[in-house]
Amino acid sequence: MKKSLIKQKYYQKLNLLHKYNKKYYDDNFSEITDAEYDLLKKELLEIEKKYNFVKNKNSASKHIGYKPSKNFKKALHKVPMLSLANAFTEDDLLNFEKKILNFLSKDKNYKISYSAEPKIDGISASLTYKNGIFVKGLSRGDGKEGEDITKNLATIKNIPKKILNKDFPKDIDVRGEVFIQNSDFDNLKEKFANPRNAASGSLRQKNPDDTKKIPLNFIAYTFGFEKGLKQKKQSDYLKKLAEWGFKTNPLNKTISGIKNLIQNYNEVEQQRANLDFDIDGIVYKINDFELQKRLGNVANAPRWAIAHKFSSNKAISKILGIDIQIGRTGALTPVAKIKPVNIGGVLVSNATLHNEDEIVRKDIRIDDTVTVERAGDVIPHILSVDLKKRSKKSTKFIFPNKCPFCGSKTIKEFNKVTKRIDAVRRCSSEDYYCDKISVEKLKHFVSKEAFNIDGLGKKIIEGFWKLKLIKFPQDIFKLDYKKIEKLEGWGSLSVENLKYSINQKKNISLERFIFALGIRHIGLENAKLLSKHFITFLKFQNLSKTKNYDDLLNIDGIGETQASSLKIFFSNEINLKVLDELGKILIINDAAVTNQDGLLKNKSFLITGKLHGISRAEVKSLIEENSGITVSIVSKKLNYLIVGDKPTRRKIDSAKELKIKIISQDDFLKMLN
Ligand code: IVH
Repeated sequence: MKKSLIKQKYYQKLNLLHKYNKKYYDDNFSEITDAEYDLLKKELLEIEKKYNFVKNKNSASKHIGYKPSKNFKKALHKVPMLSLANAFTEDDLLNFEKKILNFLSKDKNYKISYSAEPKIDGISASLTYKNGIFVKGLSRGDGKEGEDITKNLATIKNIPKKILNKDFPKDIDVRGEVFIQNSDFDNLKEKFANPRNAASGSLRQKNPDDTKKIPLNFIAYTFGFEKGLKQKKQSDYLKKLAEWGFKTNPLNKTISGIKNLIQNYNEVEQQRANLDFDIDGIVYKINDFELQKRLGNVANAPRWAIAHKFSSNKAISKILGIDIQIGRTGALTPVAKIKPVNIGGVLVSNATLHNEDEIVRKDIRIDDTVTVERAGDVIPHILSVDLKKRSKKSTKFIFPNKCPFCGSKTIKEFNKVTKRIDAVRRCSSEDYYCDKISVEKLKHFVSKEAFNIDGLGKKIIEGFWKLKLIKFPQDIFKLDYKKIEKLEGWGSLSVENLKYSINQKKNISLERFIFALGIRHIGLENAKLLSKHFITFLKFQNLSKTKNYDDLLNIDGIGETQASSLKIFFSNEINLKVLDELGKILIINDAAVTNQDGLLKNKSFLITGKLHGISRAEVKSLIEENSGITVSIVSKKLNYLIVGDKPTRRKIDSAKELKIKIISQDDFLKMLN
């Protein structure tokens, strides 16, 4: 065979290999089977061995066996791995502290001590130690369930395999971040977009020997389940971690006062460029574990911690035009098309303008010269307009009064809570009438916090929708796989994978299900409240018949806005049909009644007036932890009215009338022993 022909054949195969690698790492998707991949790799290596001249920097032999496996066993985290809320500004931090002080019912001069830890941008992992031996390591996964990557983690040098210290807890999940140093990443630049991807790719190699070849690091910073942990503060725990042989972040500090947090943040940001690992902010955690415990969690983030993200990067650009995008609730978002500009390594060509009012407020016009800001992973936005550079050509943008997608009238609603007209303009059509809203609803339905269907991302939903394969949520479970297999980019393996992940998600909790419906004003927290209230799918569905919308106001946390939104949802025939169909296809699990046999079982409470040394929110969590419920109005369903200082007279009068027990804060605490 001629040299050129050999080269040509070789490159064809090599390109295929790189294509498969890329697809897996960028899209987390495998187009061929493991065996097919191994064969391809083997062929390439053989050619390289036989014909030395084909070798170059991209040769298969120069690269680690990148075929990763999706076949890791899954395992549940004993304690979920949560995420963190983000803060960007000083106001965000002040707000964070204020909420905490409120929850703990401390006055504003109370000094909170924080553990301030640089936030490494890597992959989190949870390491289980039993009697000092590293026995299991899991990836974060969806927070509840991770992949068993024990063998891969075991290749990491700074993960101790055996800890002999007497004071090391008998049973503990040590958690931290796996990452790759920037200097090591330099050699892998061609393969991965950034160090984080490289770390993730390496960790998920099927063969731990391959993981070993990419130098990974581990920094420990928290724990999940534990038995026998004696420390009472995060700072002490971090110190102990180092004694036990873990690597901890040398830039960790204990700080109190928002001003001091900000000073530290600025200092660390200055050092950022010189560090050998990527950080994207600082995590602040309340240092005292007892307070952490009292504060607990909201949805999937702790109340006691926040990530202070590093400031954005800015750039000057020009507005070329303004497009309208629509969300699943019909909100119309103006998006500026800008002259592409590189901001911190990312080419930005779109920037959100938030809403109609924002355009007016900042007087943003087409053809204007503007400053664009990109902060962390949030969508870039326009900071300001340079009026000096405004030309005569610049034109004001007229917000459409008809939905650009379905032609329905667009409206701005009156917000009963803020008593103002909304800044957002919406398409006024009913659910599933506007095509574009329907697609957005479907995207929400499969999204991470909802059905979380692997391999069914936004792009695929859009593609399937365009091909009329799906229109309503139930269609996802009735896909014509034969048709999909024939589509470009799909093969029998990828269709099998999709089918598998869809079928797997037919079993779902009521809470996630309600959230997935994308009912306006019903986010994760409210979905949880509703699921706890209704317990079963049937009872929830029955709302369309009982029409007991007023009853919903009894649920503490559900207000008129939510109740009226549910009413609108249940008055729409299409929604009812969707519910009916989904009910037939899915197994919707009843809400778990937490600790059914707590001290406050079958008892309901309402608080009026100011309490001492404890906030309402904390009392509410205490009630729920002990199987009681809280309601928001006095009715026959109420058992106890807890009265603090300056209570609402009307509540006490109605309680007396209904012969409801009226108790003090102390009486309540006594009920809990
Ligand atoms: S604590 C319950 N501490 O940030 C608190 N997380 O958005 C969550 N991270 O998944 C974990 N450095 O991957 C914690 N010092 C640190 C961290 C840190 C980085 C990552 C971690 C987590 C994500 C949360």
